[in-house]
Amino acid sequence: MITACGFAVLCFRIAETFHIFAAYYFQDMNLTDAIPLRHSVRSYTEKPVETEKLAILEKEMEKYNARNGICMKLVKDDPSVFKSFLARYGKFRNIYNCVVVAMPSALENGEELCGYFGERIVLLAQTLGLNTCWAGLTFSKKAAKKYLLPHQRLLAVIALGYGESQGKPHKSRTYSDVCNAVCPPQWFAKGVEAALLAPTALNKQNFRISLPDNGKPMFSTGRGMYSKIDLGIIKCHFDLAAGIAPDSSSESEF
Ligand SMILES: Cc1cc2nc3c(=O)[nH]c(=O)nc-3n(C[C@H](O)[C@H](O)[C@H](O)COP(=O)(O)O)c2cc1C
Repeated sequence: MITACGFAVLCFRIAETFHIFAAYYFQDMNLTDAIPLRHSVRSYTEKPVETEKLAILEKEMEKYNARNGICMKLVKDDPSVFKSFLARYGKFRNIYNCVVVAMPSALENGEELCGYFGERIVLLAQTLGLNTCWAGLTFSKKAAKKYLLPHQRLLAVIALGYGESQGKPHKSRTYSDVCNAVCPPQWFAKGVEAALLAPTALNKQNFRISLPDNGKPMFSTGRGMYSKIDLGIIKCHFDLAAGIAPDSSSESEF
């Protein structure tokens, strides 16, 4: 026999679940809207992430994995990935959920694809009211590797949860620092502005975007350890803001 209190809790849970799915399916906020709101957050509250939100993220990851041959794995309720000297040194706190980002060792373009689709997960998390932070270095590689198969190469992880804060905008290069297209079409200018809001390792923003006569944006980066992941992340932001579909990707140069 259910008590009045039990019934009230049940009703609340049903309403909450409905709200989460309604917000997602009716797209209160889309990935592009999330771009200016996203900032890296390293310290999280104890509030657990709802299983419904984790399910939405996991389903999207599985779709990207199947289509692109990459391997993103959702880690639920396991603090060990961010329990290491490096994570503490990097001021990461209270991370129970994260995404392990990996690729089959032989996958051509795998790093760029992981950056691109990993960032779509980051932005999706932001639309669900969650905070995130990419980490290439300051986490426990040993703990993250437990979630991978032997032929999969670990690239990075993404912390996930309710942040202690919403983070803050990074110090950014300007349009003319990364691009010399004068009077570009609006879609291109919007793409570059969104690329400048993207996370990059050590906030290096070591990229350039040009618009050759064929009208197809061209991206180039330096040769750092995370530059190909960064490039994928930048392209993800550019494509969303410019209205370019993920598969019709633009040219890149390393
Ligand atoms: C590929 C990649 C690796 C990163 N690795 C780390 C890391 O190991 N530790 C860390 O604290 N932040 C890491 N970051 C987060 C960046 O420092 C952060 O994105 C950058 O400073 C810009 O700030 P924002 O994300 O708030 O815009 C990484 C970001 C990227 C894209």
